[in-house]
Amino acid sequence: MRVIAVINQKGGVGKTTTTANLAHALALAGNRVTVIDLDPQSHLASCFGLNGREHRGMDDVLLQGEPIEQYLIRIRENLQLIPAGASLNDIEHLQCGTGKGALLQRALSGKCQNQDFVFIDCPPASGLLAVNALLASKEVLIPVTGDYLSLEGLSFLMATIRNFEQKLNHPLQEWIVVTRFHRRRRLGREVMEKLLSYFPDKVYATQIRETAALAECPGQGRTIFEYRPRSNGAIDYESLAGDVLHSQTLADSLEVIACDG
Ligand SMILES: Nc1ncnc2c1ncn2[C@@H]1O[C@H](COP(=O)(O)OP(=O)(O)O)[C@@H](O)[C@H]1O
Ligand SMILES: [Mg+2]
Repeated sequence: MRVIAVINQKGGVGKTTTTANLAHALALAGNRVTVIDLDPQSHLASCFGLNGREHRGMDDVLLQGEPIEQYLIRIRENLQLIPAGASLNDIEHLQCGTGKGALLQRALSGKCQNQDFVFIDCPPASGLLAVNALLASKEVLIPVTGDYLSLEGLSFLMATIRNFEQKLNHPLQEWIVVTRFHRRRRLGREVMEKLLSYFPDKVYATQIRETAALAECPGQGRTIFEYRPRSNGAIDYESLAGDVLHSQTLADSLEVIACDG
């Protein structure tokens, strides 16, 4: 079982879009996948046509200590969701440093063992919910958009993760995915070059292009594979699923180009 936190303190970078569509791509390929909505805004549930605030979920698990398995909702074949619940934000008011960062890790311990993937969709913040996600995970997937502020945010996030790994002695494998990508924009290409020079073996080979249909999906309560299966968005998320399964990074794809040339 791979537990992966989809994390970035910046909002609007595609965390929820990536969690929903990557998870569905992996489920369609036959993997058993669980997605956990750890954002009190409950947007992940909407991506699958559910109202996350109508269901109890991670709020009961983390605040009341209820067993996580009783909140699993089967949303698609091979795919189940644990909703955020209406009072998840209350956890941010708890005192940190009293074991409150390990609530999710404990709740998941020994659970979901039959799953191939567990994805945790994080809120755009670096508080206690994010700490819980990091401690419960072995890997982090960081969506970044192709602009300079996003790159600045990325170096801050990488430093935060390093600090976290050392303090809590909890190593994490980091992966980066470039989202909302405009291939023809010079800025996008420059950002790709920077990413490649700093983190060649962490950036997944696939970039997710800016695709109108991806933004329309949540309003339809459907994933891109249901709403526009032939769109660039569907092609890109299917390709990203392959990268995730085979750890295919930019460094690998450059090697292929070098060998071909
Ligand atoms: N590749 C994309 N192309 C077009 N719109 C996108 C893409 N990725 C995300 N969006 C849209 O951008 C907004 C923010 O994305 P979201 O996944 O909610 O970000 P986050 O979870 O990081 O806050 C949403 O309206 C979403 O539909
Ligand atoms: Mg989100």
